[in-house]
Amino acid sequence: MRHRNILVIGGAGFVGRYIVSELAGRGCRVLVPARRRDRAKHLITLPTCDVVEADVHDDASLQALAAGQDAAINLAGILHGSQARFEQVHVTLTQRLLDACAGARVRRYLHMSALGADPSGPSMYQRSKGRAEQAVRDSKLAWTIFQPSVIFGAEDSFLNMFARLAAIAPVLPIGGAEVKFQPVWVEDVAHAFVNSLDNEATVGRTYELCGPRVYTLRELVQFAAEAAGHRRPVLALPDGIARLQARLMELAPGEPLLSRDNLDSMKRDSVASRQPYAPAPELGISATPMEPEASLYLAGLHPRTRFGGFRARARR
Ligand SMILES: NC(=O)c1ccc[n+]([C@@H]2O[C@H](COP(=O)([O-])OP(=O)(O)OC[C@H]3O[C@@H](n4cnc5c(N)ncnc54)[C@H](OP(=O)(O)O)[C@@H]3O)[C@@H](O)[C@H]2O)c1
Repeated sequence: MRHRNILVIGGAGFVGRYIVSELAGRGCRVLVPARRRDRAKHLITLPTCDVVEADVHDDASLQALAAGQDAAINLAGILHGSQARFEQVHVTLTQRLLDACAGARVRRYLHMSALGADPSGPSMYQRSKGRAEQAVRDSKLAWTIFQPSVIFGAEDSFLNMFARLAAIAPVLPIGGAEVKFQPVWVEDVAHAFVNSLDNEATVGRTYELCGPRVYTLRELVQFAAEAAGHRRPVLALPDGIARLQARLMELAPGEPLLSRDNLDSMKRDSVASRQPYAPAPELGISATPMEPEASLYLAGLHPRTRFGGFRARARR
């Protein structure tokens, strides 16, 4: 790889673990700041990956992290929170990172956005993602933006959440049952990022990332439940009831399963703008179908999820 030293913000999360291990596998030296190093245990064993505890909202820390890097990848993101938190994590952090990269002469920058990112979109998530994209496009860096639909993989919190719910609930009540998604495999996302790093043809481009098939949310929930061995009826909630359900979930302690802002995001389908979808050839990926891969981990047969289960039982 021409870019060898890579800073990955948000590298300890679900998508980050795949991108970081792909980079490490191709001989890159990867620096991953995390708010808590113990939450990035899965990366520490990679020989060319350094995980450091750092406050990425502090300009001096960001400048120190950017120094000596050849490229930066920004994966930081949240799904729930207040307007101020969305602004901080999506927009302000992006601007700070762009400035730190410019100051440290880090020319290459890959940005994780989302399908539906739009400064005037219906949700805080989409509006903040849209404003972050504007900041990236306004920068003088050699940027590439990626806009995935929902991402599936062994550690995802989307299909796995419905599989877990199906294990305890006799009926699955959901809002936005007819909203469309086009799930993309996490390995395809990781390969798209890493393949584009050294490819000048991807500079200044924005790429949608999707799978080969469009599903309604109802179909995805039914699939996840059945693949986990729990065939359950899906109850499509009318909008008013769905908002009430989301509001109650927001009041529960911890991260909500669903928020009203998520429902606002679902006012728009999360599918590629052109159908049938085919990934841009320069990304070097093919769109992997969801069922074969997701059936394995939802049934607990995927090596990662099997070990995850053993670890959870052993409290490690
Ligand atoms: N998963 C999907 O289906 C999907 C679809 C479209 C777009 N995306 C985008 O892809 C990116 C990665 O998503 P993911 O699924 O991997 O999410 P994830 O597992 O929740 O990881 C998110 C990462 O963002 C970092 N982060 C969260 N809040 C932060 C804060 N306040 N300050 C600094 N860092 C913060 C976390 O850092 P720590 O490691 O310090 O906790 C974590 O590494 C996000 O930008 C997301 O919007 C995801």
